[in-house]
Amino acid sequence: MMERTLAIVKPDGVKNRVAGQVISRIEKEGFRIVAMRLHHLSRAEAEGFYAVHRERPFFKDLVAFMTSGPVVLMCLERDGAIVHWRETMGATDPAKAAEGTIRKQLATNIEQNTVHGSDAPATAAFELGWFFRGSELG
Ligand code: CMP
Repeated sequence: MMERTLAIVKPDGVKNRVAGQVISRIEKEGFRIVAMRLHHLSRAEAEGFYAVHRERPFFKDLVAFMTSGPVVLMCLERDGAIVHWRETMGATDPAKAAEGTIRKQLATNIEQNTVHGSDAPATAAFELGWFFRGSELG
């Protein structure tokens, strides 16, 4: 089933100059890049985006990290995009990520884990709507 997901190259990925490598992998995996832009998240944008994690002990650090520098925001489309992108990224904690995954290859730790992906269809709809206007997702 054709599906869309939000992908983010997080601040560590942009800072370490591996955004191009991530985008190249995305293309090799057969995704169509529907929309893409470089963006420096405000605190309000990061807090709203991660609202489901508000009560977690790592929330404050996560918001500080996600606002520490620009990110690359992308809408990706593919058959089974959500699961395929999550498999391509690997486990949240790079120490647990499988060989060949982006996080195994490029991530530093569970916070600075280089990439983000939506975890379910409802989350993808919310997350894409958080960062992109309808006219950009046509
Ligand atoms: P992400 O998929 O973007 O969504 C929530 C993020 O919280 C997750 O990636 C991690 O980068 C970050 N995070 C930081 N610390 C933790 C932790 N202890 N457990 C889970 N996620 C964490």
